[in-house]
Amino acid sequence: MRKVITVDGPSGVGKGTLCQALARDLGWAYLDSGALYRLLALAVLREDLRDGDTQAQTDLLARLSIDFATTDTGVAVLLNGEDVTSALRNEDCAAMASELAAKPEIRAALLDKQRDFAADEPLVADGRDMGTVVFPQAPLKIYLTASAEVRAQRRYKQLKEKGDCVNLSRLTAEIAARDARDSNRAVAPLKPASDAVVIDTGALSIESVLSKVKSLVSEFIR
Ligand code: DC
Repeated sequence: MRKVITVDGPSGVGKGTLCQALARDLGWAYLDSGALYRLLALAVLREDLRDGDTQAQTDLLARLSIDFATTDTGVAVLLNGEDVTSALRNEDCAAMASELAAKPEIRAALLDKQRDFAADEPLVADGRDMGTVVFPQAPLKIYLTASAEVRAQRRYKQLKEKGDCVNLSRLTAEIAARDARDSNRAVAPLKPASDAVVIDTGALSIESVLSKVKSLVSEFIR
């Protein structure tokens, strides 16, 4: 566990951008744990197990072949060999992932899969419970935060640039509702580990966050 950096925080706070840049700069592996929940969600939807029992859903997880491949544009996610990167981003998949993420049995079944990522190489792990549950011994734990308004603004800008029609106040309300659900769930609620370094990304550029974290890396990781 000497070389694991955990980065937790709510949706839209900039974890993915930070973790990918950090992993690239350090030459470390990157775990997008949210993608694992989304992958299972996609498979559950495709196999029509949305209303299936949790056992059927965990059995399905055991049968999935999951791979992450580095590409010029970022990380591609493969499910049974198929590139499902963009399918994972749709709203149905996000909603199903959030439902599955609230089930203790599903979280338990994903634990070893997540820990395997750190078995052979140093790892930057991105999620909600990386520092609190999955890698509690990690020497450097970061918790990113920003207000729901700031995160909604960022998402609004991204969606507008893609040409989507969006409503800022609705986005803000959705983000605040998701935060409340993630923070109040009984199992692995979203919260900083007691030894995490908390960084508010609201007023910081990605470059400043990255340089702050890199100076922590040289301080904490030997
Ligand atoms: O980060 P994301 O939006 O891709 O995450 C998808 C869902 O999985 C979201 O509902 C939060 C949940 N999740 C979780 O509960 N624990 C993690 N370590 C990562 C994601």
